[in-house]
This record gives sequence, C-alpha cells and structure tokens, in this order.
Amino acid sequence: MNNGRKYSTARQPFALVLGGQKFYILTNPKDVTECYKNLKTLSFDLFVKELMLNCGSSTSCVEKMCQEPPPYQDGATTSPLNPAAKSIARVGVDFHHIQLHPGPDSKVNDLTDSLTKYVDKCLTWDKVRAEPHYVLRDSSPGVEVSLMKLCGKVLIEAATVSYFGESFLEIDPDLLNVFYEFDEGMWQLLYNYPRFMCKDLHAAKDRLVNNLATHFRLPRSQRSGEAWFTKSLEDEQRRIGLTEEEMGSTVLIIYFALNANTYKWAFWIFSYLLHDPQLMEPIRAEIVGTMPDGKLNMKSLLEECPRFNSLLDEILRLNSNSSSVRYILEDTIIAGKTFRKGNRIMMPYRQLHENEEVYGEDVLAFDPERFMKDKTLRRSPCFRPFGGGSTWCPGRFAARQEAAAFVAFAMYRFDISLVKNPDGSAQAFPRLESAKPSFGMMGVVGKDDLRVRVCPRF
Ligand code: HEM
Repeated sequence: MNNGRKYSTARQPFALVLGGQKFYILTNPKDVTECYKNLKTLSFDLFVKELMLNCGSSTSCVEKMCQEPPPYQDGATTSPLNPAAKSIARVGVDFHHIQLHPGPDSKVNDLTDSLTKYVDKCLTWDKVRAEPHYVLRDSSPGVEVSLMKLCGKVLIEAATVSYFGESFLEIDPDLLNVFYEFDEGMWQLLYNYPRFMCKDLHAAKDRLVNNLATHFRLPRSQRSGEAWFTKSLEDEQRRIGLTEEEMGSTVLIIYFALNANTYKWAFWIFSYLLHDPQLMEPIRAEIVGTMPDGKLNMKSLLEECPRFNSLLDEILRLNSNSSSVRYILEDTIIAGKTFRKGNRIMMPYRQLHENEEVYGEDVLAFDPERFMKDKTLRRSPCFRPFGGGSTWCPGRFAARQEAAAFVAFAMYRFDISLVKNPDGSAQAFPRLESAKPSFGMMGVVGKDDLRVRVCPRF
C-alpha cells in the first residue's frame, strides 16, 4: 500500500561492506515493502542464530533451538504446543503472536491487564515519593526525580513482572542498573566487539543470563504470574533438553526486546511535553477527559485522544532508529536489480521516516500534530518504527498501551514540571543518541536526563 502516493525512483538500492559482509541497503519504501513480502528467497533465520550466539548461547544450544523437528527428550515426535514440529526458534515466534497479537485465541489482554495494573500500582503518590531508584531529593510538597529512571523503574519492571512474575524482581536487587548497562552497549555485541573492549557489557549480559537461569531453576510454584508465552517456551525448551543456563541465554534476547524501548519512548514523550507547556496543557486535558473517575479507559485513550496519539507517533517517527535485515537465500530481483545469494539486505527505518515526499519539507521538524492532520501517515510504508513483514514487532500493541497507561496515570495524578538548573537557567533538551546503532527507540547521549519535580494533584 502506498496511500496513493507516487514515490520517486531516486532512492536506488546501494551496497555497503560492513564488518566484512556485503549489505544491500534499501531506502525506497516500495522496495522495502517488496522485501518484507518475500518469504521465499529472503530469510531472518540466520540473524536469530547470530543473535543467540552473540548473547552467549553455545553452538550446540543454537543447533538444538534451530533443528526441525526437535528430538524430544520423552521420545514423542510432536508436542501439543507444537503440533507441526517446528524448530523451537520458529515456534517461539508463533508463541509471541499468540501472546501479543489481538485475535480470537489471543492472550494479549492478559498481558496488557498485567502491564497496566503494574503501572497503576507504581504510580501512586505513596510509592513515588519513597522510591530510591529515581528520587533525587525531597522538595515538599513533592519530590525531585530522574525522569529516565522513573520511566525505567515503572516500565521495565512492568514488562518483567508481566512475563516472569514478581519473584523475578527478587533475584537481583540491581536488576535495573544491570539492564541499563546491557541496553546501552548491546549494539557492540552485534558488531562482534572483542570482549576486552566491552567488559561492562559482557558482565551485564552474563549477569542477566544468570538471573534468567536462576529464575528457571525455581520450582514453578514459586514463580507465579508468568505469562503464557514464558511458560510455553520453557516447556518446549525443556522437552528438547536445554539446561537452565541455555534457556537463560536464549531468552535474554526476548528480555531485551520486551524492555529496551518502551521506557525510552515514555522518556521522550515527557521530555517534549515538559519543554513546551502549550503542548502539555491540551494533551493533559484530552487524557484527563477520558478518566472522569480516575480510572484508566484504554479504549478512549487510544481512540478519542487524537492529539496524544499524534504525539506518540511523531516521537516514534523521529526518535526511533532501527533496521530490518534479511539474508538472501537465492538470487533475488528487487527494483530491477539482482541481489546475490549469500549477501544481506538492510532496511534502515530512519531514511523512511525522513522521506520528504511523504512528510513534506518540514520532515526533520518535530510537529506533534503531524499524524493528526494526516491520518494516512500511520499506515504509510514510510512509517516503520516497529519494522515489518515476518519480523514486525509483535509487541507494538502492548507497547502503546503500556506507554499510554504510564502517561495517563502520571498526568492524572501528578503535577510534573522541570526543575531549574542551580544557576536559575532552564534545563537543556536531552540530546538524542543517533550515532550508535539502536534496536528501536534511540536513547540519550551519555548520561543526559531531566530532573523533574513530581507533586501529588490530590
Ligand atoms: C516503543 C516500543 C517498541 C519498539 C519501537 C519496538 C521495535 C521493534 C523492532 C524494530 C523490532 C524488529 C523488527 C524487524 O526486525 O523487522 C522488534 C521486534 C520485537 N519486539 Fe518490539 N518494540 C517495542 C516494544 C516491544 C514490546 C513492549 C514487546 C513485548 C511485549 C516487544 C516484543 C518484540 C519481539 C518479541 C520482537 C522480535 C520479533 C521476531 O523476531 O519475530 N517489543 N521490536
């Protein structure tokens, strides 16, 4: 679909050699859409293997995860959860879809209920005022907090608890700081940086794998609240004889995908709102209007708040920067060019998000009303914050609800404002880290953050 727009042919594919590998780079939305549709000669499987190896899985573990059909430990040839005897890596993708995609047999409501309940519980004044992870100082009648850590604490924990149950939080008292370290350096794993050049990253990775292994070693009765996905994948992994360490190293990628993006999205939402009171007020009015009794009304929040939803999309457009990748199994023709077997295709989203034929001359400007003024943009092939095709982020619905619930509860319950610098000047807008590769939402440069005052409204 191209929403009736005609794209120029100027954006021709080109090739680059990165880390010794040849990549064809696609920036024309038509070519990207064609590539997403091609399930025959283009594949993502190789990257799944590379990701598992880079995250610490052994070769034999990766082989077991990718074999079809798996030799089950109990002698069976199929399992009720995997009747087609797919590899565990592939059936895991099916499990994501059952857990996260809306539909008749979907488990997405269980997950979004759990996410929003956790956000609700964390954003009460009694909790916020006393949270050492992000409170910087008391400033009666409120508290001053680190915005990044407030978003991290609530949203990383919400997804962690919704997938692994509350007991996971007890395994490592420093879980959040370990995750931030991993999240910041994860790109170096994919670019095969030698271990000695990123020791902190490897220490964080090993610790997270160990936390996950410890979790899987606990009897099920001691880890209530796990998601259907987590239990189903564990059952299948045990049936092919993976150890808890092996399960931990393969699930680390999933733990990363659940947690690396939504807290940054929330951080950027508040960064824009706090720097522009004229933007904040109408959006607050819209959100608070959906909560006459203080209760969250997700349907209204997502369907009856055009300004708020346009803001969410504009931030996804400008502040996300990832790429979909595919491995070429057979020579493939795209845009009249032959892409040779054995090489790779990369589709960077940023070039799509900065396509002036779609977004106009002000493509680089932040326009919070952009998606409200043109409702077709959300479905444009030039809006790909969640990727597309077979790897299209299955968490996109849950992520929006999680971020929206966070903003709604925070806006309804608190007055949130920027603290002035010690010399009385205003805090600078945090710098976007666009130089390092990212896997969704971009983070901040260095330790950029915002110091904000949170006061109860009631
Ligand atoms: C702002 C929030 C988020 C952004 C921007 C985002 C973005 C992405 C992107 C770009 C991909 C790769 C797409 C591709 O390769 O074509 C992806 C994959 C994935 N995401 Fe998200 N994501 C977000 C939140 C979430 C959440 C909250 C969950 C789970 C609850 C989630 C679960 C996943 C999973 C499981 C995959 C791997 C899919 C596969 O390999 O088949 N994501 N995400």
